[in-house]
Amino acid sequence: MYDVYKIRQDFPVLSQRINGKPNTFLDSAASAQKPQCVIDTMYRLYSSCYANVHRGAYYLSEHMTQEYENARKIVQRFINAASEREIIFTRNATESINLVAACWGRKFLKPGDEVLISQAEHHANLIPWQVIAAETGAELKVFKIADDGSYLEEEYLKLLGPKTKMVAVTAMSNVLGTVFPVRKMAEQAHMAGALFLVDACQAAVHHALDVQQTDCDFLAFSGHKTYGPSGIGVLYGKYKLLDSLPPYQFGGDMVEKVTYEKTTFDEVPARFEAGTPAMVQAIGLGRALQYMQEQGMENIAAHEAELTDYARGRFAEVKGFKEIGTARGKGGVFSFVLDGIHPQDIAFILDKEGVSVRTGHHCAQPLVERMGYTSLARASLGMYSSREDIDIFIAALQKAKTFF
Ligand code: ALA
Repeated sequence: MYDVYKIRQDFPVLSQRINGKPNTFLDSAASAQKPQCVIDTMYRLYSSCYANVHRGAYYLSEHMTQEYENARKIVQRFINAASEREIIFTRNATESINLVAACWGRKFLKPGDEVLISQAEHHANLIPWQVIAAETGAELKVFKIADDGSYLEEEYLKLLGPKTKMVAVTAMSNVLGTVFPVRKMAEQAHMAGALFLVDACQAAVHHALDVQQTDCDFLAFSGHKTYGPSGIGVLYGKYKLLDSLPPYQFGGDMVEKVTYEKTTFDEVPARFEAGTPAMVQAIGLGRALQYMQEQGMENIAAHEAELTDYARGRFAEVKGFKEIGTARGKGGVFSFVLDGIHPQDIAFILDKEGVSVRTGHHCAQPLVERMGYTSLARASLGMYSSREDIDIFIAALQKAKTFF
């Protein structure tokens, strides 16, 4: 049985008061809070066994190396990758996608080729493709979504064709909450001869991932949204594909042999992890993923689905509240506008009530504009969100209305 109140006790920040009010944190889609076990893991590493990895023939370094490589195995199991060699630690999902765009795009894209994305992508899964397309002479194509934010298969298939070399799509929109059927989309992409990249930034938090079942070629997610530390991200890639790519950055720990004239590079994944990695963060991420698994990914998904229904049922009570993105089966991400109140003012008033929501274009400016706005407010759920959070949020919105 999923006990959200017990889970809340594992997240120390939730017991802090904000502006004298209970901490009603509804911005987990931007970055999630951290459970005590992740904080403890990082404290333990810094205070009792810190040293650089892969470099020292002494106890501390060997111990850290073992924990770092074990974190890679935890990630492998979390997404059901075939081998831990398919897991590359990066800075965040943005860097993971930039890595693919730069290494794969520069090697394989040529004039006449196309990269296909949806209208629902955030900047991290748009700009790297835009830039690499301009550099290589390829074209970036964007398929349409419906006015309510739903995925439109006919629009996807209309633009998917023999010129498409890469499809890069979010598994769940950070603005609209729309869930994309990535398994079927990957199959269709492969039939067209294209590769398929999943941006799992939001999806990784809300339900179990399985890269073998999805049959995606690449997948990216960030540590800081999966209850882990910031500064760490993951890139999954099928081994053969990764092995066909040149390095992304150059420096220590990614080389085989270096002379003044020439360098040969290490195997995957070391080839893509130049320099001292964010090792404490990687181990912290491993602990965060284990924490989610201890609670059960299905339980987290069921809790969030139930809370999503509860929240959406209550929005109707707030006069002038309009939810942007109402696709069937959407996740717990609620972008909204409130008649006559600028999103920035909403956030300001809510903050006084201890409620944290995000405002602006949510790192997805073209999408927000496509939905007809320049700025939106957004409330988003995490595994620790409760009905009380929603009740306080609704009461705070009612209060905001009295000011205008
Ligand atoms: N892309 C992140 C968000 O949705 C930062 O807020």
